[in-house]
Amino acid sequence: MKGVVLAGGLGTRLYPLTKITNKHLLPVYDKPMVHYPIQALVNAGIQDILIVTGGNSAGDFLQLLGNGNDFGLKDLSYTYQQGEGGIADALKLAEHFADGEKIVVILGDNLIEKNITKAVEDFAAQETGAKILLKEVHDPQRFGVATVDAAGNVQKIIEKPKQPESNLAVIGIYMYDARVFDFINQLEPSERGELEITDVNNFYVQDGTLTSEVLDGWWTDAGTFDSLLRASNMVAEGGANRMD
Ligand code: G1P
Repeated sequence: MKGVVLAGGLGTRLYPLTKITNKHLLPVYDKPMVHYPIQALVNAGIQDILIVTGGNSAGDFLQLLGNGNDFGLKDLSYTYQQGEGGIADALKLAEHFADGEKIVVILGDNLIEKNITKAVEDFAAQETGAKILLKEVHDPQRFGVATVDAAGNVQKIIEKPKQPESNLAVIGIYMYDARVFDFINQLEPSERGELEITDVNNFYVQDGTLTSEVLDGWWTDAGTFDSLLRASNMVAEGGANRMD
C-alpha cells in the first residue's frame, strides 16, 4: 500500500505563525510537525510515500526531508497544491502516484501516540472500499463526526456539526481504494469553498463499503493554537508513534 501526507493549505488558524512558514514545518516539541505523520506511515510498513504540499515555504520540505533517509526510506515523492481547495482537492494530486493501488492518507497536522499497523493490515485484507479511524473527543464540533449504529457501522459523517450526534471524531487518517479519485471528481465545494474529505467518506457510506476502527492511544491535530500546544505537551510527556 502507498501513503500520502497532505501538508498544503494556508494554515490561517495559526496566523501569524503561518505568515511565512507552512504550518507543517512548525515545531511540535522537538521535531517539525510533518515528521510525525510520515513516521506514522513508516511504522505501519508503508515505504512509498507522497508529500502533497503548497502555500508558503513549499521548497523547504525538500530541504528538510530530502529522500526520506531519516525515516529509513529510499526516496520520497513530492507534489504541489496550487491555492487552497481543501483536503479532497489536495488528494486529487495523488491519483498519478497511486496508480490504481490502495492508499493510506494522513493529514500533515495529525499526531498519534501509538500506531496504525493493525488497521492498515485489516484494510489490505478488505476487498474494496475505504476505512476511517475514529476517536472519542470532548469537542466534536471541531471535527468530522460519525454517527455509528449498534453494530458499529458508520451511518453518516457530518463535518463540524453544531449539534453533534456522537463524540466520535473522524481522525485525519483515511484508507481508500482506487475509486476515491472518481468520488473526488463528483464533489462540489462546501460552504467554506473547499472539497471536503467528509463528502468523500460519505460516498463510501452510500456505497456500503466504508469500515471503521476506533484508534488506540491518544490522537490530536495541531492546526490551532490550543491543539498545537497540546500536541507538543503530549509528545514531551510520552512520545508519539510508539510501536507497543
Ligand atoms: C479536517 C477534516 C475533519 C477531520 C479533521 C481531523 O478538518 O475536515 O473531518 O475531523 O481534519 O484533523 P480541518 O482540520 O480541515 O478543519
